[in-house]
Amino acid sequence: MLLVDPTKKISFKRCISDGDLVIVYERHDSMKAVKVCESSVLQNRFGAFKQSDWIGKPFGSKVLSNKGGFVYLLAPTPELWTLVLSHRTQILYIADISLVIMYLEIIPGCLVLESGTGSGSLTTSLARAVAPSGHVYTFDFHEQRAASAREDFERTGLSSLVTVGVRDIQGEGFPDEFSGRADSVFLDLPQPWLAIPSAGKMLKQDGVLCSFSPCIEQVQRSSEILRSNFTDIRTFEVLLRMYEVREGKTDCCQGDEGGSLGSLPRKRRQRSNEGSNAQEIPGSPTVMARPSGEARGHTGYLTFARLKCLS
Ligand SMILES: C[S@@+](CC[C@H](N)C(=O)[O-])C[C@H]1O[C@@H](n2cnc3c(N)ncnc32)[C@H](O)[C@@H]1O
Repeated sequence: MLLVDPTKKISFKRCISDGDLVIVYERHDSMKAVKVCESSVLQNRFGAFKQSDWIGKPFGSKVLSNKGGFVYLLAPTPELWTLVLSHRTQILYIADISLVIMYLEIIPGCLVLESGTGSGSLTTSLARAVAPSGHVYTFDFHEQRAASAREDFERTGLSSLVTVGVRDIQGEGFPDEFSGRADSVFLDLPQPWLAIPSAGKMLKQDGVLCSFSPCIEQVQRSSEILRSNFTDIRTFEVLLRMYEVREGKTDCCQGDEGGSLGSLPRKRRQRSNEGSNAQEIPGSPTVMARPSGEARGHTGYLTFARLKCLS
């Protein structure tokens, strides 16, 4: 996924080798991770794909099956990994992850603490954000989940950037060795308020904490605890709406506000015509857009808070 050599340089290898992890992409909602093996054949509804044909091809290549079907071979990224990983728990998705990385101000070199690890969906993005010289220490009290996450980080080439520990963070807090060293802390725990005092001790002055909770009652309890040592406490809910955009005929969709593909909102079309003197001719092709049916609803609330500077 991300090769970091011992001199802490990131390598963006662009060609597929035997043993590489690739994302076999059929369409945006159908893909899987495959470890390339020269002697193996991938069988799917499009036919049989000899993996020996994949070796030496650039990531992103389109490859053909014995029946003329095709798939794309994509380089694994945290964004794609989140869509193909095995769900051992609920996971964070890209919209929430993006906000977490930005508001936690995570940059290369940061030391980040996380609990629980769960399926490692967020951890994968945290690792890329701190690479090549930072580190993510992630804790889960569930031994098997921690072991599976470790295996996944080996598979995705991130193990030099992530350490998985088994620990009850709500009961024991984070290990003392991280006291005052963390740039940021992320919590995805059922009772985050129990871990917040320890998280505060781990943060550097001015460090930022984020807690993800599905229920507003959890947010309320966490916010009460946060008020004593944290400032700039803010809670967000990220609602992502996807759009289908394609060319269509204006007159067939006039007045259609919902179900089928609707034309772009009027204002928008006028603005796109500004300066071009373009006129809308009924029946002529125009760009149509509608929200896609796949919109993801509530996932959880993200509460961010910055450690108060006491000096
Ligand atoms: C919802 S999952 C986290 C998912 C993760 N954020 C992801 O994106 O894949 C919550 C995890 O917290 C762990 N957990 C629950 N209570 C814990 C505790 N007291 N200490 C450490 N981990 C705990 C669970 O075992 C579970 O794996």
